[in-house]
Formats: sequence, C-alpha cells, structure tokens
Amino acid sequence: MLKELTKNVHTVEEGTEEKQTEIIAVTSGKGGVGKSSLSINMSLMLKQLRKKVLLMDADIHLGNVDLMLGLRASRTVDEVLNDGVQLDDIIVSGPGELDVLPASSANAKLLDMEDAFLKKLGQAYASIENRYDYVMVDTGAGVANSVLAFLLGADKIVIVVTSDPASIADAYAVIKLIKKVNVDIPVIVVPNMMPSYEAGEELYKKLRVMVNKFLKSDIIYVGAMLRHELIARSVKTQKPVVLTQPNASASNNIRMVIKKIMQVPRRSDRDNKNLFDRFIVNKKVPFEWD
Ligand SMILES: Nc1ncnc2c1ncn2[C@@H]1O[C@H](COP(=O)(O)OP(=O)(O)O)[C@@H](O)[C@H]1O
Ligand SMILES: [Mg+2]
Repeated sequence: MLKELTKNVHTVEEGTEEKQTEIIAVTSGKGGVGKSSLSINMSLMLKQLRKKVLLMDADIHLGNVDLMLGLRASRTVDEVLNDGVQLDDIIVSGPGELDVLPASSANAKLLDMEDAFLKKLGQAYASIENRYDYVMVDTGAGVANSVLAFLLGADKIVIVVTSDPASIADAYAVIKLIKKVNVDIPVIVVPNMMPSYEAGEELYKKLRVMVNKFLKSDIIYVGAMLRHELIARSVKTQKPVVLTQPNASASNNIRMVIKKIMQVPRRSDRDNKNLFDRFIVNKKVPFEWD
C-alpha cells in the first residue's frame, strides 16, 4: 500500500513557482462560534485579493465546510491512504473557485496512524501545499490532541471567541495550552458576533489581561467581527456573503480582519516542514491542563 502511495505522490510541475505557503489555523475553545463561517469568508476574501488559497476542513467531528458551500465531496482523504488516489482528486473547486479539501473520517484516526504512513500523507500534502499562498485550516473546537497538533503546525493561529462566558473561558484554555508548548506562533483573537467594535475590543482586553498576567505572554488584536444578519443567512443559503454581496458591511468587516491578519508577522521559527510533517512532531505533545 505504501508503495502505491509513493508512486502516486506527484511532484510540483516544472515551471510552477514554489510558494512560501502561510498556514492559518482557525480554532476556538467552544463550538458554534463562527470558525467555519469566518474560515470560508476569509479564504474567499484572500482569493479576491488574488491569492492562491486552499481551505482545509480539519474539524474531525463537525466538519461541514462542504455543506456550508453547497459542495458534494465525492472522495475523502481516506482514499489517498487506501487506494493511492491523489490529493488533487479530492480537492474540490467551490464557489469563487476556492479549492477545498473536505473533512475526512481519516482525520479522526490521524493520531493513531504510524509515522511512516503520516509521512506519506505529508508528502502528498507537501506536493500541493507549495502551490498555495495560503492554507486556511478550519479546525475543531477545544483542546483535543488532534486539534493541538494542527494548531502547532500553523504559522498563525486565529482564535474565534464570542461574548458567551463559556466561550471566553474555553478560549483562554486553548491559548494557555498553545503558549505552554510554543510561544513563537502568533495567537490572534477575533471576537465574533459582537454588538459593536467597542464590545469586541473590551472582550479582547479582558482575555489579554489574563494572558499577560498568568501566562506572561501576549495575544494579537486585528479587530472584531460584528453580528451580521447576512452571515447568518448565507449559511442557510450556502452562498458566502463575500461572494454575493462583496460591498456589504459584513464583507467589509471580513476584509478588514483578514487584511490585518495578513500583516501579522508569521512565526519566526518556521522550518520548511509542511503541515503534516509538523503534525507528526506535535502529535506527541503531552496534553495537560496545568
Ligand atoms: N458574524 C456573524 N454574525 C451572525 N451570525 C454568525 C456570525 N458568524 C457565525 N454566525 C452563525 O453562527 C453559526 C455557527 O457558525 P459556524 O461557522 O458553523 O461555527 P463553528 O464552525 O465555530 O462551529 C452559523 O449559523 C453562522 O451563520
Ligand atoms: Mg465549523
């Protein structure tokens, strides 16, 4: 099986420019805070800024980016492992010509996979990763090891938080875990569904005080996302607001946030490893609360 995989791992075509891909992982402490909506709309906004983007659905349990975009994913990453199918066969082109790597039940097994197997998957990813300026990874919520391994593989981490006290407490728990393992990855906090920009900033400041005081570390602010009826509605109609109404205030809000995220310097300890090579390194990171 491994042999078959190797055979099918394709290399970047000659003449194709290799890119310094930036991996942005989007996560949260609690579910339902807007990770997928934000990942999708930020990815589409990056496309509108003429960037090459891959949106990867890495939410093991609730992956639904394909549904939110009205896509029907016919194949999953599992098939790369089992049948030697190439990743290119699995990536689907979504609205706005956004490349989407749908969620897969294989993701749930990643932590249990042999490193050699993961390496093959890593090679397959490496061969596509370089084609993109940005890989946006929509992760699951919470502090499971699988989520953490993806986060630690990213160049920037975006934590989405709402004003729900449980969301704030859980966001802090995620930040604490990240900072304990790696202080170098920029952690950006995006308050979502805020009644006002002031409320968003207040929420950020609240979290920042805790991070400064107890973790002796810092988090980055790029502005907040307001509650937009258009975003809520676009999930139901499966048509992202950035595409349908690029000049609506919701779209402007997303544009502001992603542009600022682009300006945040990426981690300085970046090696040339791809997302899955880093996943292997990080999957063994012990997951502790204190
Ligand atoms: N800024 C926003 N304004 C209004 N509704 C939002 C906003 N962001 C997300 N939502 C809504 O919240 C719900 C959960 O969003 P989703 O992106 O699926 O969250 P997650 O991926 O974190 O579980 C969806 O119905 C979505 O439309
Ligand atoms: Mg989601």
